[in-house]
Amino acid sequence: MQPFPLSPFPTPLIFERSKPGRGGTRVPKPITAKRAADLLPAAALRRDPPHLPEVPEFEVMRHFVELSLKNHHVDRALYPLGSCTMKYNPKVNEDMARLPGFAALHPFTPDVACQGALRLIHTLGEWLMDIGGMDAITLQPAAGAQGEMTGILLIAAYHRSRGDTARQTVIIPDSAHGTNPATAALAGFVVKAIKSDPRGQMDLATLKAALGPDTAAVMLTNPNTVGRFETGVVEIAKLVHDAGALLYMDGANMNALMGVVRPGDSGVDAMHFNLHKTFSTPHGGGGPGSGPVAVKRHLEPFLPVPLVVKQGDRYAREWDRPQTIGKLHGYFGNFGMMVRAYTYISMLGPDGIRETAQAAVLNANYVAARIEKKYPMPFGRGMHECVATGTPFKVFGVKTLDIAKRLLDYGFHAPTIYFPLIVPEALMIEPTETATRDELDRFADTMLQIAKEAEEQPELVTGAPYLTPVSRFDEAAAARNPNVRYTFAG
Ligand SMILES: Cc1ncc(COP(=O)(O)O)c(C=O)c1O
Repeated sequence: MQPFPLSPFPTPLIFERSKPGRGGTRVPKPITAKRAADLLPAAALRRDPPHLPEVPEFEVMRHFVELSLKNHHVDRALYPLGSCTMKYNPKVNEDMARLPGFAALHPFTPDVACQGALRLIHTLGEWLMDIGGMDAITLQPAAGAQGEMTGILLIAAYHRSRGDTARQTVIIPDSAHGTNPATAALAGFVVKAIKSDPRGQMDLATLKAALGPDTAAVMLTNPNTVGRFETGVVEIAKLVHDAGALLYMDGANMNALMGVVRPGDSGVDAMHFNLHKTFSTPHGGGGPGSGPVAVKRHLEPFLPVPLVVKQGDRYAREWDRPQTIGKLHGYFGNFGMMVRAYTYISMLGPDGIRETAQAAVLNANYVAARIEKKYPMPFGRGMHECVATGTPFKVFGVKTLDIAKRLLDYGFHAPTIYFPLIVPEALMIEPTETATRDELDRFADTMLQIAKEAEEQPELVTGAPYLTPVSRFDEAAAARNPNVRYTFAG
């Protein structure tokens, strides 16, 4: 199916559509000024009528539908943004999150009156621990990056509790997501970057040489950002532990592993999940996120408060934890996201979770196999994403950016580009499991078509996109002289 083009028409503001008296809803007659003055103090009375657009309901609908066509979204077509896992988010998740008992629950509700919500949080935590092979969990962090921060603070607290204060360094491979070094630096550690091996995996000899009495932790992304499974993870964990450090795993890419590999079984001490990637809670404008952190028993005392615990057949928030690193988020984190992830996992069950990961890996490899002759993969095929290079097109004057822009004309979101940094002219493609074979073929055909265009009519590619509401910007001018004021026509 060819997706419909993005709406190229200028869309007026809803206020510009407004015409006096054109409202579509009969609202109750306002009370008289005199009656209002009897009911409310003078300072609380409004002086002017509210500035609301007067448009009938169908115009409101058309306005917002039109706006939704101005941008690409996962409900429209494939969104193969590598490292972001833009899978389709089932609508049943939304139905569950909107149940009044969840959506209208006040965060100050006493434990006794919100047993269902606490049970959901506790059960989701147990499922995630099971998927990760871990012993304890906090669901508080609001993003993957905040999960990393939590994990590194837990590791710092662990070393401190043992009087081991010389450990000031965190080792991170050059294939890591940018949030890893940022997290370690923000937590006060010195970041030691190490080079990956030619397969794009952690180099054991380099790791061995970098480890020392100053190492607090190693942060490993698995599968890593070139889409490769770190096959040496068990050995890595052993080297790290022998050096007295702990192994943190960035588990944002668990979409490739869930139900197949449990990080805790390979020696990982702490990890985060991205519910907004792996467990189908919305992100990319639809957030907020959620980045639960699961740990092994030795890190449990330091977890943020409150934890949701089970006491007999009741659930409670536990605050009295003397070694806790404290609180990381208001109340208990983004509860609505927990409801969505709970729904997703319970709909799939253990077999569905495993099949999801297998399909994600199969889909990425299918795309890789179809396009790799034109778009080589410097580190070979991988797991849930394929990382190609656009360097063959440079001789025609076509850059990866141009290929990404041209994809927009064919109704696709572009893949992630120029990341990871260790791949020149990188195109990082993550189709996810929620793409049919037809859609994967259409995407692969389009990539091959763009390759042909780049070779035969490069100016067609370098001038793209042609079918979007706006084409290319002068990005430097936009940054230096931003003009963000809308000129109101009404
Ligand atoms: C591998 C990896 N680590 C960390 C993150 C950071 O997660 P967040 O954007 O939720 O902070 C991402 C985000 O996509 C990621 O792909």
